[in-house]
Amino acid sequence: MQLIKKLMLENKAWAQSKVDLDANYFKKMAIEQNPKYLWIGCADSRVPPSEITNTDPGEMFVHRNIANLVVHTDTNLLSVLQYAVEVLEVPHIIVCGHYNCGGVKAALSGQSLGLIDNWVRNIKDTYFTNLKEVDAIENEAARVNRLVELNVIRQVNNLAHTAIIQKSWAQKKYPYIHGWVYDLSTGHIKEIQTMSPDTVINKAHKYNF
Ligand code: CO
Repeated sequence: MQLIKKLMLENKAWAQSKVDLDANYFKKMAIEQNPKYLWIGCADSRVPPSEITNTDPGEMFVHRNIANLVVHTDTNLLSVLQYAVEVLEVPHIIVCGHYNCGGVKAALSGQSLGLIDNWVRNIKDTYFTNLKEVDAIENEAARVNRLVELNVIRQVNNLAHTAIIQKSWAQKKYPYIHGWVYDLSTGHIKEIQTMSPDTVINKAHKYNF
């Protein structure tokens, strides 16, 4: 229980430190949120979005799952996306993967891990699509890291293929979608891809409004 008590004590100390700096901090925070970013990231404990981007509470709307996937039947993610785009009207969406991602390693390993196989299957599909490129990389860690990048690119495209994004692009000309990869060993984020609202969507994934 010490592990849990520690969190409660730290919470009290943190709240006090905020009030010490600004007596109205939580009064203002409680009124509304106006974040400019939706972050879709990995659940990995080493990639805390607000900490690595030095953003404060209220600045970033966050969704996390294993290996930062955008799955078009995931009503949890889609609800977060719809709220972020249609109600909060965020101008930027960030899909942030990270090198040495356990989910991506699982997709490459071939080892069955139970239920999670079905989630990781989405990454296996990206591996299959890029089989030649990935398998041509001799170093195992480099192979994982390239699939991490390809996975982020896949998720950026998956976002662009949702009706939520295409409707907002057609009617409001935003949001921009950014594909990033965080390097655990340096703390630095690498930009992999940016997709603007004037992106042409292929015929198969295109919606008309
Ligand atoms: Co991960």
